[in-house]
Amino acid sequence: MAEKWTPSSWRSKPILQVPAYPDQQAVADVEARLASYPPLVFAGEARNLKAHLAEVAEGRGFLLQGGDCAESFAEHHADHIRDFFRVFLQMAVVLTYGSKLPVVKVGRIAGQFAKPRSSDFEMKDGVELPSYRGDIINGIDFTEESRIPDPKRQAMAYRQSAATLNLIRAFAQGGFANLDHVHQWMLGFVKDSPQSHRYQETADRISEALAFMRACGVGADTTQQLRQTDFFTSHEALLLGYEEALTRVDSTTGDYYATSGHMLWIGDRTRQPDHAHLEFFRGVKNPIGLKCGPSLTPDGLLELIDILNPENEPGRLTLIARFGADKVFDHLPALVRAVEREGRKVVWSCDPMHGNTITSNGYKTRPFDRVLKEVESFFAVHRAEGTHAGGVHVEMTGRNVTECTGGAREVSPEDLGNRYHTHCDPRLNADQALELAFLISENLRRESDDRVSQVA
Ligand code: PEP
Ligand code: CO
Repeated sequence: MAEKWTPSSWRSKPILQVPAYPDQQAVADVEARLASYPPLVFAGEARNLKAHLAEVAEGRGFLLQGGDCAESFAEHHADHIRDFFRVFLQMAVVLTYGSKLPVVKVGRIAGQFAKPRSSDFEMKDGVELPSYRGDIINGIDFTEESRIPDPKRQAMAYRQSAATLNLIRAFAQGGFANLDHVHQWMLGFVKDSPQSHRYQETADRISEALAFMRACGVGADTTQQLRQTDFFTSHEALLLGYEEALTRVDSTTGDYYATSGHMLWIGDRTRQPDHAHLEFFRGVKNPIGLKCGPSLTPDGLLELIDILNPENEPGRLTLIARFGADKVFDHLPALVRAVEREGRKVVWSCDPMHGNTITSNGYKTRPFDRVLKEVESFFAVHRAEGTHAGGVHVEMTGRNVTECTGGAREVSPEDLGNRYHTHCDPRLNADQALELAFLISENLRRESDDRVSQVA
């Protein structure tokens, strides 16, 4: 690992989850074109996010990361982006109000296209075809033609990411995120949901506080923080040819940054220390995430931390625990203790989705009570260890889908077929996402009460 790093040094390492492109010259042509395109994000923004995450690592903030499991070309609509952003803001407001901590907002969006698969092939009605690997690689239709990896899709993903990012920046900075609109963020269908009363109550209190501050001369018209919000993008950097093409030297520091998104993460299937993904990630200066599943040992984790964050820079590394609701206590305490013992600065985040996937009624789904249980257990471990439960990483949408079962407005296994739209894993709908935010907010409040009582 001490060898010289370059944006292409990953190419000499073993690699998993690579698409079988039939025409390598066409891949090289697309990569060359992407390398000449403008960056999607600016290195200074990634540094800014890292600074926010450094605060989270010190216990002074909370990371909310979420969005689609996989973005798709077919569902690239302004109203989907708006509905997602609106629910995300609602969650952030609930968390900020409950925890009294700044909430760092990171979407799984504007680049979340490449999917790792547990099997290279998919079998349906006796026909076997290559698996769908995300719209940046091949098509979801179950036909031979559609499943052939097509490098032109990389250019389409780049352009879609640019358009999505453009709209999100407009929402975040152009007035939509103004706290004065906290009541208007209620979506039509959430209005009559079991969460609406609770949300209304929080929104009323915020409005009251804002009215008081306005009377004191501090309002959205004078104070940027009330008028705008910082919103960052993230995705799993799985397709390394695409990532390499968008990796650029930052002219202000001379460092390399991946400019496909602000934060990138390494999936649970591609975190082998001597493989290509670790090699790529160690050289880019963005804040990065590392998925930590049940096969990760404490020593294995420390080895990965040594590679990814040798200078122990806070905000550089977010560890995203995803064990399954019943396995958190078996795995997380030992990892947390190893990190604490070695004095490593990390953000601990909880992905309560990927360890809780089951099949029901022929659909891939996640029972919402398992999702809640994994989050509760994550908080319980951090309370017991005296460490900060720093964030949550969820698959969610602003749409009223029926993909995860349960929730206060119950989705039953029989309902799954009604509005099952995901391109990959089942997402929380707007109702479930907000319900989860209230649960996290209660846990964060407990964490801060514990801290206060320790000081007293
Ligand atoms: C994902 O986040 O969509 C994913 C595939 O996660 P993991 O690598 O944790 O399985
Ligand atoms: Co997923």
